[in-house]
Amino acid sequence: MEAIAPLVAEIEGEPAGFADLQTDGYIDMFFVSPRHARRGVGTALMRRLLDAAREAALASIYSNVSLTAEPFFARHGFTVERCNEVAVRGAVLRNATMRRRLVETRSLD
Ligand SMILES: CC(C)(COP(=O)(O)OP(=O)(O)OC[C@H]1O[C@@H](n2cnc3c(N)ncnc32)[C@H](O)[C@@H]1OP(=O)(O)O)[C@@H](O)C(=O)NCCC(=O)NCCS
Repeated sequence: MEAIAPLVAEIEGEPAGFADLQTDGYIDMFFVSPRHARRGVGTALMRRLLDAAREAALASIYSNVSLTAEPFFARHGFTVERCNEVAVRGAVLRNATMRRRLVETRSLD
């Protein structure tokens, strides 16, 4: 956790969620406490990540997103790039690599 240096959102001094942004634009972890779900904590964290990504002049940011978090990432402009199956102790879990581009590609003419 310390190695990925996440941002922590707090409500009245209590941690409500956390999210990180790695130097290549990868979001390793993005979690909001169920106690504080659907109150904009995730959106506040995402805004901070997007500000940091623009400051670092990243072309895009991306994450491996669980099925339950897909609608949230889609709401924030991410699209599915690839569907993945990850084997964890005999169980197959599905997630999707989702990416949001931050710069417009310019036409050459
Ligand atoms: C996904 C997650 C980060 C959303 O955090 P949140 O603070 O509840 O999100 P917000 O309140 O900012 O939601 C913003 C919008 O995203 C969408 N959204 C968020 N959670 C959703 C859900 N469970 N289903 C459908 N849409 C959802 C909605 O459009 C929502 O707007 P609305 O509440 O006005 O309808 C949080 O539910 C979570 O931590 N989930 C489990 C962990 C996880 O899978 N993390 C991803 C691994 S990378």
